[in-house]
Amino acid sequence: MIDYQSILNNIYARVTRETDKGKIAKYIPELSRVDPNRFGIHLKLISGEEFSVGDSDVGFSIQSISKVLTLSMAMSQVEAKIWNRVDVEPSGNPFNHLSLLELEEGIPRNPLINSGAIVIADILVSQLKDPKAEFLKYVQDITGDPSISYNLKVAQSEKETGFNNYAAANLLKSFNNLNNSVDAVLDFYFHQCSLEMSCAQLSKAFFLFANKGLCLKNVARLTKSQAKRINAIMLTCGFYDEAGEFAFEVGLPGKSGVGGGIAASLPNEFSIAVWAPGLNPQGNSKLGMQALERFTTLTNQSIF
Ligand code: DON
Repeated sequence: MIDYQSILNNIYARVTRETDKGKIAKYIPELSRVDPNRFGIHLKLISGEEFSVGDSDVGFSIQSISKVLTLSMAMSQVEAKIWNRVDVEPSGNPFNHLSLLELEEGIPRNPLINSGAIVIADILVSQLKDPKAEFLKYVQDITGDPSISYNLKVAQSEKETGFNNYAAANLLKSFNNLNNSVDAVLDFYFHQCSLEMSCAQLSKAFFLFANKGLCLKNVARLTKSQAKRINAIMLTCGFYDEAGEFAFEVGLPGKSGVGGGIAASLPNEFSIAVWAPGLNPQGNSKLGMQALERFTTLTNQSIF
């Protein structure tokens, strides 16, 4: 039997002692207000048991972690429309890199970099009558938590400063890989990124990927094959130019966001989310990565 609670306590004691906590994302002005000392972890086992430490119930901006949830919703509804518009290869580049998109004629490397997530957003905007409301409902349903909501200040803040995303969307449009208007798609994209969730809520959402596509209520939200594919994309693309490092150090499929969150799964075992707002130079949570490295080392659990 693994004593998960004392392992989480051990990680908390060790990681919160670190003096270099990384840097808070400032390019979205509203995100720069967050307290850099926040730290939380929530672990949800397939068996139903849960363990947590620190600020595990405090909501934060999930940012790019939302890209996995939009991908999951799009795959569950219209998978056939996705893979001729977005590839599934790691980019080896930062999340907002643009030159590869031009070289590869408007086909993003994968759905977890910004340009790929913007194509997924376009697919959902085409597919749904009220995209923002329906995506929010999807996230509330898979977590069983109707209190989850967008942070409209964060969405607005990103809209005012999201020049790189406007560039990506316009480039996609110029290559005929965006069917709706740039403004409509980015409005949806900025809202999905502004979703506020706690580690506890994120680990419930990621339960789907740990549990072969079945949500907490045992309802199939994805096929087994779709859950496998999403885990594969997270493992190879979830941390941008640090995906190799995350697989090497941690060994779990996962996804980071510039709000300092990381959510991950170990298929058939657990889902886990960690939050530490300071980022490393690649835009991934510095202490979050350290905490997960320690977690998989101390529990001896990873996909490898
Ligand atoms: O589009 C952006 O730049 C942000 N809304 C999300 C970026 C992000 O979270 C990158 N992840 N580490």
